[in-house]
Amino acid sequence: MFKRNIQPKKIEEKPKVDGAGEVPVKKGKAPPELLRGFRDILSDEQARWTLVRDRVRALAEAYSFDRIELPILERADLFARTLGKQTDVVEKEMYAFEDPSGDLVAMRPEATASVARAFVNHGMFNLPQPVKLWYEGPMFRHDRPQAGRYRQFHQFGFESLGVPDAIVDAQLILIASRLFRDFGIDITIQINSIGTPESRAAYLTELTSFFRPHRNKLSEDDKRRLQKNPLRILDSKDPAIQEILKDAPQIIDWLDEDSKQHFTKVLEYLDEVEVPYQLNPHLVRGLDYYTRTVFEIWEAGDEGERAQNALGGGGRYDGLVELIGGRPTPACGFAVGIERVVKALADRNVSPEPRPHARIFFAQLGDASRRVGLRLFEEFRMVGIPVAEAFGKNALKAQLEVANKLGVDYTLLLGQKEVLDGTIIIRDMDSGAQEIVDATKIVSIMQRKLSVAEGVNRPKQDVVQ
Ligand code: HAM
Repeated sequence: MFKRNIQPKKIEEKPKVDGAGEVPVKKGKAPPELLRGFRDILSDEQARWTLVRDRVRALAEAYSFDRIELPILERADLFARTLGKQTDVVEKEMYAFEDPSGDLVAMRPEATASVARAFVNHGMFNLPQPVKLWYEGPMFRHDRPQAGRYRQFHQFGFESLGVPDAIVDAQLILIASRLFRDFGIDITIQINSIGTPESRAAYLTELTSFFRPHRNKLSEDDKRRLQKNPLRILDSKDPAIQEILKDAPQIIDWLDEDSKQHFTKVLEYLDEVEVPYQLNPHLVRGLDYYTRTVFEIWEAGDEGERAQNALGGGGRYDGLVELIGGRPTPACGFAVGIERVVKALADRNVSPEPRPHARIFFAQLGDASRRVGLRLFEEFRMVGIPVAEAFGKNALKAQLEVANKLGVDYTLLLGQKEVLDGTIIIRDMDSGAQEIVDATKIVSIMQRKLSVAEGVNRPKQDVVQ
């Protein structure tokens, strides 16, 4: 399975030059390249990332989920056993390799398996149930990079372990839908039930025989799926298959009585809290550990396209903890791709202020002044007033230009003379008026000035409705 990945790929040999065996890198000519599917998240994007992270944390706390941080590297077989050996994620997309001590490890492609492992490792079945955990962090899949799909991406996720009731599923779906409502992103919840492994077995036999007469219309990939993991054929993106699927047997008709009742209850709870959903008989999800409820969060408008880029997904996984050696523990959860949420926010021009805007600029003239400046910065930091500077520039004119660009309210000017006198000059950037004050009182003077100006000069914060 992952043997393929154990040996590092041979690096393509570059032409050797003058027998030395190394290609000389011309300075400044060949900047190092990012790996495909990996990206830097630069400062101009950070405000949206912070917004998402802050909202997720607040919601998790409101619903009493505890944070868990999980390692990025795990034993590779954790994922093979839980996500399924025949799944795309394990078969084609795992960053799996042998580490220097000879262990076969993988960079986590998702976090639910790790949550289940941690649940077992730390004896969490002894805690009051359900154990409600949330996490956030990078995941790795060697997927084909395209819009909205990366090889390193970030997820946040909510998992609730220990309680089998349908209300848990409904509450998780409610949390997901509240979050997107807060973000101002219209979504639909796509929902289905895939029953228990036992009830599914009979359905899979039926589905395979339904497809037998259509075999010649299937792509090689779909033929393979039908043989190894027939359920996956249901979310084939091939339009010809989608046409055939219209007449295919639906898993919902093959559910065992308990699964049917469970699903009905989930839907009733959702109706109760007025969370709209769409029943989607083709939704099966790409990981093997799911039982009963499965759902995805699609951006509204994507429904017709069988969203390749779901914002999030999840479901119940009642067999997972037991599968990795724990006590039987029903569980349910979901995860959301942060890149996709950030993109949806950008599409809606949501641009929160990157960080508190500096209200004061410190202009220094000479070394003694810089030293006083360092101390002053600390004093302003302690009272929560951000101060900007341009230590790279020495001329006053150049520094004032920066202050103007930053749109600060005041500039503090400190030259040789002021340092000797123990004073400091305050320049009002709107009027250009200047006053000389006692340097020891500067912080309290500025606090007063800024609170008077509060609401007059403050830049407006962008608000997400
Ligand atoms: P998943 O559907 O594989 O589920 O991933 C969840 C979300 O992660 C996707 O809906 C998508 O937003 C994001 N995502 C996945 N792959 C990529 C990628 N290559 N680039 C960008 N974003 C991506 C899981 O991972 C399950 N662990 C969810 C879960 C939690 N089920 C139960 N609990």
